[in-house]
Amino acid sequence: MSHGIAVIGLGVIGRRMLDQTRNRSDLDVVAAWDVSDKAMRAAAADFPDVPLAADARAAIEAPGVDLVYVGTPPAFHRQYVEMAIAAGRKVFCEKPLAVSLADGEAIVNALEASGTANGVNYVFASAPAVAEMESRLHAGAIGSPREVEIRLFFSRWPRDWQANAGWLAYREEGGFVREVLSHYVYLLRRLLGPAAIESATIGWQEDPALCERSALARLSCGGVPVLVSASAGAAGPDVVEFTLRGDTGALRLENWFELSQSDGARWSKLPHGGLGPDRPDPRTAAYQSQLDSLAKMARGEPHPIPDAGVALEVQKTIEALLAN
Ligand SMILES: NC(=O)c1ccc[n+]([C@@H]2O[C@H](COP(=O)([O-])OP(=O)(O)OC[C@H]3O[C@@H](n4cnc5c(N)ncnc54)[C@H](O)[C@@H]3O)[C@@H](O)[C@H]2O)c1
Repeated sequence: MSHGIAVIGLGVIGRRMLDQTRNRSDLDVVAAWDVSDKAMRAAAADFPDVPLAADARAAIEAPGVDLVYVGTPPAFHRQYVEMAIAAGRKVFCEKPLAVSLADGEAIVNALEASGTANGVNYVFASAPAVAEMESRLHAGAIGSPREVEIRLFFSRWPRDWQANAGWLAYREEGGFVREVLSHYVYLLRRLLGPAAIESATIGWQEDPALCERSALARLSCGGVPVLVSASAGAAGPDVVEFTLRGDTGALRLENWFELSQSDGARWSKLPHGGLGPDRPDPRTAAYQSQLDSLAKMARGEPHPIPDAGVALEVQKTIEALLAN
């Protein structure tokens, strides 16, 4: 049986949902809407089978909608989550849950009070490489965890593929701490427990409207020290790397989904699980696995996607870092 999705926001990530559900038999985009005419025209041209609605309410209330996917910039998540709850739909919201604490808390309260099934799109939740990392950690493959090092570097921010997402360049909603580091704060929580901030220094750009240029932080997760170094705006290949070192070995996730293990000397790449004809590369495999989980949520089955309560914890850590 297929479950119907209403997609709100047809930018980079909304279009990814349209593209990645194209060949699935369990999830079907039955309505979509974006505030921008340009985004609507582009969706009509590239996804002619997807019904475009007249406005957000019409999309959310369209017949056959089981769940609403909120794929707008974060300041608008709350209003569409609330609209989805009022229409009795399940909610799949993009991360970060919100920027303001008031919005994040209102979203969680409204979802809990209404008993609405919900999930936030931290894609590591279903990624095969993360499941492999977690099972190796718990099987003792690296001994006891001793430290985590998170390194992020972007030669250009926003990255080229998000060049049209101008909001990402601004302090109000954007920046790589919210956009990228939040995924790793979720991952830390999953592997080691909630993160506490011990120290943080954010380097801001000269124009106060623009987002951060650097972030250096020390966190603690279940007693394990976490070192974070993130920056943007200089030459060199981008770096997205999460290293978990134990007392007998280490595990590293780089370029999002490439897993390696070290016995203390050199790194060896681990084969990537989860690939298949419809999942030819690690990124697609992770996204399709997340959609497998989303279909479980739509069917009322257990699934690993974090709910808004977990996402609110992540949001609080991220916003506390940025407040430094
Ligand atoms: N989970 C992930 O891996 C992942 C990856 C990228 C982005 N994101 C998140 O997805 C969200 C969207 O990011 P994006 O990269 O697609 O941005 P984007 O700017 O490319 O797309 C956002 C779209 O939302 C539309 N929009 C803006 N305000 C709106 C409103 N009030 N109502 C309806 N539509 C509105 C814009 O016109 C635009 O088309 C953000 O929360 C972002 O952090 C998540």
